[in-house]
Amino acid sequence: MSYRIAFAALLSLTLCFYLFSSAFLDATKNIWHSFTNAATGARVPDFSHFPPQPRTLSAVEFPINAPGKRVLIVGDLHGMYDPFRALLDKLDYKPASDTLIHVGDIVAKGPHHGSMNVLKYMASHNITGVRGNHDQKVIEWRAWLDWINRTNGGAVWLAELHAAAEEDDPDDPEEWAEKRLKNDRTRWSKKIPDGWKLLSDHYRVARDMSASDFRYISSLPLALHAPQAHVLIAHAGILPSDPNYKPSHRRQPLARIPALPAGLDTPEDKIATLRRLQEAALFTKVPQNTDPWVTLNMRGVLDDNTVTRGKKGTPWAEIWNRDMGNCAGFDPKHRFEARPSKDELPCFPATVVYGHAASRGLDVKRHSVGLDSACVTGHRLSALVVDAKLQNTPPLEVRKKKTIQFGEGSAQIIDVKCD
Ligand SMILES: *[C@@H]1O[C@H](CO)[C@@H](O)[C@H](O)[C@H]1NC(C)=O
Ligand SMILES: *[C@@H]1O[C@H](CO)[C@@H](O)[C@H](O)[C@H]1NC(C)=O
Repeated sequence: MSYRIAFAALLSLTLCFYLFSSAFLDATKNIWHSFTNAATGARVPDFSHFPPQPRTLSAVEFPINAPGKRVLIVGDLHGMYDPFRALLDKLDYKPASDTLIHVGDIVAKGPHHGSMNVLKYMASHNITGVRGNHDQKVIEWRAWLDWINRTNGGAVWLAELHAAAEEDDPDDPEEWAEKRLKNDRTRWSKKIPDGWKLLSDHYRVARDMSASDFRYISSLPLALHAPQAHVLIAHAGILPSDPNYKPSHRRQPLARIPALPAGLDTPEDKIATLRRLQEAALFTKVPQNTDPWVTLNMRGVLDDNTVTRGKKGTPWAEIWNRDMGNCAGFDPKHRFEARPSKDELPCFPATVVYGHAASRGLDVKRHSVGLDSACVTGHRLSALVVDAKLQNTPPLEVRKKKTIQFGEGSAQIIDVKCD
């Protein structure tokens, strides 16, 4: 009897051991992949905290046709807190009736205290937005700090470094840290991933932000989708098709009508559902858009069809507007016949709102709105105002200044100076 119990106990122990160790191995395999320190070949955990994309906004979160409600989408802030508050004043922002959304890069490059204030504002009001490439760096530094700090020696090493920086009070803390780390013989400096700059803007925001600020910034999605408005928001941009194939190739999501889920009666329902599915498919069926680097950094597409963050190549927004311009619509009743001819695509246009491209400034095209008007370098801070009144007015009847065509109606651009 006791043998049997002992045997059963041994068996379950062994089983537990295998289950736990394989879970542990899996976890480490997933975590230890992304950053390396070339000098040592040491691998460090993945600090990127990438969420699935996109997050879908409900009709309440992005009201397009509700009287008295507005959506205000603000461009790259980079810690420019005073212009941000001035813009909210100029917009007469009222949280009860307005939805505020940002396009990312809320911190870094601007003054440090400004970054902390913008972040605190966004976090404490849980403002909807997407993460930018600069926000991403801050998230990664904070995850790194948490990791280093979990070991006693690491926290002590950092505390000493911070104390020395405070004492020397350098004009350029990043440069100061680079010099100091050259002579650092501890094992800790070898744990800094390649290209990461200790005491940089991003590092200091990461170090100084509160735990709830971190929760907020790392909860920001890479992209937002408001299906009822046919609006997509990403910091750098989104490709409408895989550049390695013709836009009309069957593998492209805009070149085929999605399968219709059962149970939809009216034609409007069907079209709305099919448009939502087709727009959502851009994030899963265009391979480039599944790479977070693309939605965070893309500027254009090179002749060899690769995505670049440099200034060469075709700006992605041109490609977007080309494909959207070819959307010829579709009729769900005839969905198995009548493929549109030549370049025409069986889709309806959607609009992308983005930031990131400061060198292009405010960039309004028929189906895309680039909102980075370079506030941090002393130019302007811009917001796109979507309200029901303008949405229901045909574009040609609106004569107000800075009114633009937006989706099937109109919207407005409101901006302030950034001195
Ligand atoms: C912030 O908003 C998001 C999206 O609506 C929600 O999921 C989250 O729970 C909110 N966070 C807090 C702290 O309220
Ligand atoms: C990590 O430790 C340093 C040094 O003690 C401290 O300044 C910093 O605030 C800590 N950061 C985090 C995220 O715990």
